[in-house]
Amino acid sequence: MNEHAQRPPAEIRYAGELARLREHDTDDRPPGWALSLRAARRFVLGDETLGISRKFVGDPSLIDRSLVTLATNRGLMLVGEPGTAKSLLSELLAAAVSGTSTLTIQGGAATTEDQIKYSWNYALLVAEGPSTRSLVAAPLLRGMAEGKVVRFEEITRCPLEVQDCLLSPLSDRVLAVPELSGPESMVFAQEGFTVIATANTRDRGVNEMSAALKRRFNFETVFPIADFGTELALVEAEAAALLKRSGVTAPPRRDVLEVLVTAFRELRQGQTARGDATDRLSGVMSTAEAVSVAHAVGLRGWFLRGEPGTAADLVSCLAGTAAKDNPEDLAKLRRYLERRRHGDQWNALYEARHLLPG
Ligand SMILES: Nc1ncnc2c1ncn2[C@@H]1O[C@H](COP(=O)(O)OP(=O)(O)OP(=O)(O)O)[C@@H](O)[C@H]1O
Ligand SMILES: [Mg+2]
Repeated sequence: MNEHAQRPPAEIRYAGELARLREHDTDDRPPGWALSLRAARRFVLGDETLGISRKFVGDPSLIDRSLVTLATNRGLMLVGEPGTAKSLLSELLAAAVSGTSTLTIQGGAATTEDQIKYSWNYALLVAEGPSTRSLVAAPLLRGMAEGKVVRFEEITRCPLEVQDCLLSPLSDRVLAVPELSGPESMVFAQEGFTVIATANTRDRGVNEMSAALKRRFNFETVFPIADFGTELALVEAEAAALLKRSGVTAPPRRDVLEVLVTAFRELRQGQTARGDATDRLSGVMSTAEAVSVAHAVGLRGWFLRGEPGTAADLVSCLAGTAAKDNPEDLAKLRRYLERRRHGDQWNALYEARHLLPG
């Protein structure tokens, strides 16, 4: 992996932290785990004394329950609204537990069993017939053989019969490769193998999953960040990091971010901070979206004018994220911007309301 990768996996981004945790980890580890439960928890939630950053903001008990699930023989299913860091959490847990987060299956309407289990190198298959050499292992087979966490993103977007190929790996801990003969035709899961799946409640819900498969997972819901200050601090830290990577040397302005995060929360909840009813957008107004708008606002300010972004930049960036192609959301957003409020950046937002495209 070179230094220009846009987003290296967690085990590379935080290689130093993982090494430090391993070094100080004297607790017992579940079989096949790279870290103890307590060290894995520190990796996700942070630990000042060891210089471990906090990566996921949320209920610590969610992390404890998730780690305990991973140490049992059940899979972990993270469900929740889009942009609540389900994928991030699954990546962090996989990196902590197995030292790798890249055994990942991306679920979609076109996902096939080949992409989950294994396929063949056809040139070798034709030349030599089925053999371990011509077999191309996909994430599930690799995770089982190597005793690692396999991530299954957006599992409910896969056809039901494809999802169900997880049944015997999760219950019998074995994957049959009927094309091979002898002992190689059965791959037995090694200690450390488990599955973390994610599903969001907006696309296709978890109802689109067989009861048999549901029973093999423990479900955990990941909620949006409840507290304003916590969400603001996260958006500020993430946006600052993204801007730095984009070559912007001016950090985002706190007063602009306050307006941004307030607007996202109000449009998400359909209520202003003071308790007045407001329109609720049907589009996704998650923390992840707030981070990406904060990034765009900073880029606009810097590359168009050489200064940090302002509330006027926020207006220009909002439509593309918040309203997308939904005219009703755009109208709601327009109504939202018509409200007058106290504060310089709220005034700037109001004055710039005509910049809302469409
Ligand atoms: N509780 C949180 N802790 C840390 N980061 C968060 C949190 N909530 C949102 N984020 C931000 O959101 C980003 C992660 O979004 P991620 O893609 O993991 O969400 P998701 O729930 O998988 O969304 P989707 O359902 O669209 O796949 C993080 O990089 C971070 O900037
Ligand atoms: Mg995701």
